[in-house]
Amino acid sequence: MRDLRISVTDRCNFRCTYCMPLDEYEWIDRREILTFEEIERLARLFIGLGIEKIRLTGGEPLLRRDLNRLISRLASLDGLLDLCLTTNGALLAENAAALKAAGLMRINVSLDTLDSEKFRRISKRGDLSKVLEGLFKARSLGLGPIKINAVIERGLNDDEVLKLVEFGRTNGFAIRFIEYMDVGNANHWQSAKMVPKQEIIDLINRVYPLMERGRLYGSAPSLDYDFADGIGDIGVIASVTEPFCGGCTRARLTADGKLVTCLFSSNGYDLKGLMRGGAADADLLAAISSVWRERADRYSDERLEAMRSAGGYNPEAHKKIEMIRLGG
Ligand SMILES: C[S@@+](CC[C@H](N)C(=O)[O-])C[C@H]1O[C@@H](n2cnc3c(N)ncnc32)[C@H](O)[C@@H]1O
Ligand code: SF4
Repeated sequence: MRDLRISVTDRCNFRCTYCMPLDEYEWIDRREILTFEEIERLARLFIGLGIEKIRLTGGEPLLRRDLNRLISRLASLDGLLDLCLTTNGALLAENAAALKAAGLMRINVSLDTLDSEKFRRISKRGDLSKVLEGLFKARSLGLGPIKINAVIERGLNDDEVLKLVEFGRTNGFAIRFIEYMDVGNANHWQSAKMVPKQEIIDLINRVYPLMERGRLYGSAPSLDYDFADGIGDIGVIASVTEPFCGGCTRARLTADGKLVTCLFSSNGYDLKGLMRGGAADADLLAAISSVWRERADRYSDERLEAMRSAGGYNPEAHKKIEMIRLGG
């Protein structure tokens, strides 16, 4: 266990077609959302068990009121080497300075297209110019290196891979292309919409030759590449076509305090219930250790095996926790 993703809210101001396409969800009751004190306590315990990196996510993390207070609490925890946040960028311009001042080290911004009309079609509620403003503001404040997450979906934005690469190279952002995954249930994922990593790499390599660098620590989800001309780098997260379950070091904490050991899990272990029931730190540590020790997740490996089998893969056969709950 090396990195922890904490979902600070399940609410979002966008409705991205690949993530939460519906207008309404069964939202987590506000009383069930972890308080900052509870998050800090759990983060400290996780760090004691080997976590070195924490990423705040959601839902849209910048919707959580006073997030800066949580960031400064987490930033002062001993043993934490990396504290970052993934955001859709809509509220970044006005928050970037306070995030930096609170001790946030880096951000990832999700951006799938540079076309404002398409951006609206994907996010349903977003405004591309606001996201770009936030990106450049964050860069000017040194909240980097900034990575851009781009989910590539066939027929939607697969024609923009090179445009995104050029945008990244020109402006000093590292693009992380993400294969469209069957997270949650609401997006009704179909494998035909997923653009495989190899296709993305071939497309880029023909114009901007790439040199494979490998995975950070040998186990990170992103397989990274440097441009042969020395200008920038990209990565691809290929959890569908090249699963990395065997090297997974990632734990997740849902907004309502459940420990989840896989992005494709159908349930989590209720740490909040234990905490609010009066558990001592030693009890929580024992619970976390035992959940982690017993995990046998290899969902993406199994998906690929099924996709290659005669029967094929049926994404609807397995109910998963929605991405906004467990923190993408
Ligand atoms: C769930 S979002 C949460 C943080 C924030 N709201 C954002 O969009 O950056 C985290 C990341 O998950 C990615 N994501 C969501 N649904 C996905 C899917 N079906 N396949 C691949 N990536 C997905 C998003 O593009 C985003 O980069
Ligand atoms: S990807 Fe992020 S911005 Fe888009 S709906 Fe999901 S949580 Fe919201």
